[in-house]
Amino acid sequence: MNGAMIESEAERLRDELVARLVADGAVTSLAWQAAFAEVPRHVFVPVFYRQSPTEQPAVDASTPSEWLEGVYSDQLLVVSPDVKSSSTVPSLMAVMLEALDPADGDRVLEIGTGTGYNAALLSHRLGDRNVVSVDIAADLVSDAKSRLASIGYHPTLGVGDGVDGWPGEAPYDGIIATCAPDAVPGAWLGQVRPGGRIVAPIATGVAVIDVAPGRKGMGRFLPGGAYFMPLRATPGQVDLGSQIADITSAIAPVRTTDLGETIWFDDDFQFVLSAALPGLRFLTKLAESGITIFTDADGSWARLDGGAVAQGGPQRLWDAVENAHRQWDGVGRPTRDKFSITVDGGAQHIRLDGHGVEWRLGRVIP
Ligand SMILES: C[S@@+](CC[C@H](N)C(=O)[O-])C[C@H]1O[C@@H](n2cnc3c(N)ncnc32)[C@H](O)[C@@H]1O
Repeated sequence: MNGAMIESEAERLRDELVARLVADGAVTSLAWQAAFAEVPRHVFVPVFYRQSPTEQPAVDASTPSEWLEGVYSDQLLVVSPDVKSSSTVPSLMAVMLEALDPADGDRVLEIGTGTGYNAALLSHRLGDRNVVSVDIAADLVSDAKSRLASIGYHPTLGVGDGVDGWPGEAPYDGIIATCAPDAVPGAWLGQVRPGGRIVAPIATGVAVIDVAPGRKGMGRFLPGGAYFMPLRATPGQVDLGSQIADITSAIAPVRTTDLGETIWFDDDFQFVLSAALPGLRFLTKLAESGITIFTDADGSWARLDGGAVAQGGPQRLWDAVENAHRQWDGVGRPTRDKFSITVDGGAQHIRLDGHGVEWRLGRVIP
């Protein structure tokens, strides 16, 4: 395929994707429809990788037409071989941008530049001088800058920890995050003007928070799941192999449990679990032994083997999972859109109104 053929095929596939985003209700406004129709995703995703639990990520499309089909599918695309960045599912990007609902001329800060595609959509909607985007990884920001410039956009891009926002350009009318904090960072509340809005993945849901004076905010969760990579402190890698080996061979008391590892895949319960135990991870399922390992950021772990569980580290992780499940089950297994979120500086709560159930972000309130 020569350059002209790629562009015309990209346009055809993009039109199909946009039609689908509109039909599915992800895009609801003409302004965002035009942005998705006119911003070329393929410029921002020159290559993407297939993930495998056992092998190194491999390039996922060997021919130009496979590549374009992938780019213009409604899929998350891993864009770096070390899996430290991805291009978000377009329908989820659309739902979040629609929820941000900026007015003409609004100034928006994005946390998590990644490929630069979302920054391009924002630049199309608001004008690039009204868009600021930051990422912790300098190499990603540099690549995003050239791709944005190649289609005529020059938003302000910064390298830094998004937990600090980007104070130099504040105040903003809105912040949109495409990596997930455990709770809304105080800096974000301080950098959005009262009346402005924060849209961020919290606890596997999209929180839409209207900012009030005094660094406060109130919001709700959209119905769909939002499984973003966590906001990380520094770009780096963990030695998963030795962690798995240590936990597999650790000697610890064993008890029976009625709750199997499949509860992790219950999307509604995931929300509750992420609110109650934000550091919890499904580390692995070992095919040869049938053992499943969960870990927490505090170093705790749980090892499930059939109906038995062993636990180690500072907290009894599986006990906490069972408690959260009992609490969620007791209030009728609500979906995430039944919950609200309040932020007031350090005190942040997810509530199921009318049931007296709430989680202070990061732990269960008994
Ligand atoms: C899902 S990707 C973002 C996708 C991006 N918006 C796009 O349009 O391609 C998440 C990004 O968050 C970035 N990130 C992770 N932790 C961060 C942090 N503490 N501060 C800023 N960016 C961070 C990652 O480097 C990664 O590029």
